[in-house]
Amino acid sequence: MLERFSMLVNAARLFSFVSLVLFHTTVAAAPTSVGDETLAALQGKTILLGGATGANGNHVLRQLHDLGLDVRGMTRNVDRAIKKFGSQYTWIKADVTDPDSLTAAVEGVDIVISAVASMMPFGSNTSEKVDHEGTLNLATAAKAAGATRFVIITSSSSGVKDHFLNTIGGNVLIWKGKAEQVLVDSGLEYVVVGPAAIDDSPGAQQMISLIPRSEYRAGMVIGWEDLASVVIAAAGRPDAANRVFTATNAEGIASDAWLSRFAELPTDLNLPPE
Ligand SMILES: NC(=O)c1ccc[n+]([C@@H]2O[C@H](COP(=O)([O-])OP(=O)(O)OC[C@H]3O[C@@H](n4cnc5c(N)ncnc54)[C@H](OP(=O)(O)O)[C@@H]3O)[C@@H](O)[C@H]2O)c1
Repeated sequence: MLERFSMLVNAARLFSFVSLVLFHTTVAAAPTSVGDETLAALQGKTILLGGATGANGNHVLRQLHDLGLDVRGMTRNVDRAIKKFGSQYTWIKADVTDPDSLTAAVEGVDIVISAVASMMPFGSNTSEKVDHEGTLNLATAAKAAGATRFVIITSSSSGVKDHFLNTIGGNVLIWKGKAEQVLVDSGLEYVVVGPAAIDDSPGAQQMISLIPRSEYRAGMVIGWEDLASVVIAAAGRPDAANRVFTATNAEGIASDAWLSRFAELPTDLNLPPE
């Protein structure tokens, strides 16, 4: 009887030991969204997020906010932004086509993330005015205000002429290429993030891969949440300064390995010849 009892106790001990090991392993292997180095670098920094109400920007806004970081969401219409996304965020009204409106938006800002974009082929808010001239206006204002880094969410096909997006979007890819060039010329630290195609897959579940844009191929896809994590890491990590790349999900187990890839990525825009 006593023997059976001590066997049961040993079995219970073994079970709890195995559970502890398994649990610990699971916790240790779980990927964080942006990494400790990013969080440390962004502590005490003020971030202006252009395009915070957009398809990409709203994911970046929510992640920055959930991480407890100091972010200002820029929009042309604060009431509309509050109705759609809520008043828990700090909103600021500004229009990148109107340089005067940017002065208050960039005041005290350390880092700009821009997901501002337009594919309007005509009118006052065309891709030329928003992507190209707007990036110039925002980068100029940010530099004057003392910001140090500007992360732009743009395209993996910037500068490509023969592309259907140019036909429907007022030569949008040409203007994106020019936007990237004005950013590089601004003297700010730049990070140029070209997403793969984007889908709704949940964050931190798949491997993230950062690759030179020249390696981008149709069919590559990244989830909104993973892309937002990449953008936030790009805003914070010292080794992300002046990098140009495509962000995609890839085959493999999710891990934090992508965070150490920035330093290997190109610094050139490598745009197609005009
Ligand atoms: N969506 C995709 O599947 C996809 C895929 C690959 C790459 N990208 C790239 O990701 C970037 C963001 O795209 P998105 O799809 O997120 O764009 P989006 O949903 O169309 O959002 C555009 C954002 O730009 C802002 N905006 C437009 N005109 C502005 C102006 N004159 N001044 C200030 N803000 C202005 C809008 O803010 P308000 O209206 O609130 O002012 C909005 O937040 C683009 O460079 C795009 O090429 C997107």
